[in-house]
Amino acid sequence: MRAKIAPSILSCRFAELGREVRAVDQAGAEWVHVDVMDGRFVPNITIGPVIAKAVRGVTSRIVDVHLMIENPDRYIPAFVDAGADFVSVHAEASPHLHRTLSLVRDLEAGAGVALNPSTPLSAVEEVLDLIDLLVIMSVNPGFGGQAFIPGSYEKVARARALVDAHRPGRIEVQVDGGVSPKTAPGLVKAGATVLVAGSAVFGHPGGAAAGVRAVRSAVEELPSGERRV
Ligand code: DX5
Ligand code: ZN
Repeated sequence: MRAKIAPSILSCRFAELGREVRAVDQAGAEWVHVDVMDGRFVPNITIGPVIAKAVRGVTSRIVDVHLMIENPDRYIPAFVDAGADFVSVHAEASPHLHRTLSLVRDLEAGAGVALNPSTPLSAVEEVLDLIDLLVIMSVNPGFGGQAFIPGSYEKVARARALVDAHRPGRIEVQVDGGVSPKTAPGLVKAGATVLVAGSAVFGHPGGAAAGVRAVRSAVEELPSGERRV
């Protein structure tokens, strides 16, 4: 499976949102990642369904909504209505994860669970039948541009083994936080199939399209046999 790139608009120039999303779309990014924060589950506030809808309006790529919010059930329908293809919730914020994921599925969106760096993979073991996406956070969620936590390579490898043992080829393993041309090759080698990249893409000195190409060429330079494309 070719690794997919999911630029996080959190690091884009919001006054130029449409232009930034079109740039990553045309540069070949397969997904667009939308980070939603509530100032409660994480110490930052970002955006809501109206921005997800604006993104949906300018791209036909996969719109991937990452909810870093308490009580996600209350807002999931609004994000699906806005055009989200995938909605991920945090296991730590969802005491009734089975119900929450069932809600996403009932609304016919892809269902994801995100795990903070301190949360063990066992948090998803009982809901593997209900997920399409497992998000391994490689920073503590809340901000773009943070340093990658090195133990994440090994956690991604264990996540890949877990999903392959349960439902081979059916669950994407996404890694989110500090993904760059430097960290991406090891993550793909460990089994990540979706790479979220915010600052590495939108903070690239050559612009967002150059940022997508830089991540892409880093993962496609892996020696054959190590490449999951
Ligand atoms: C972190 C967000 C990430 C973030 C990634 O809380 O979930 O998606 O935007 O940004 P970078 O790639 O800069 O670490
Ligand atoms: Zn995210």
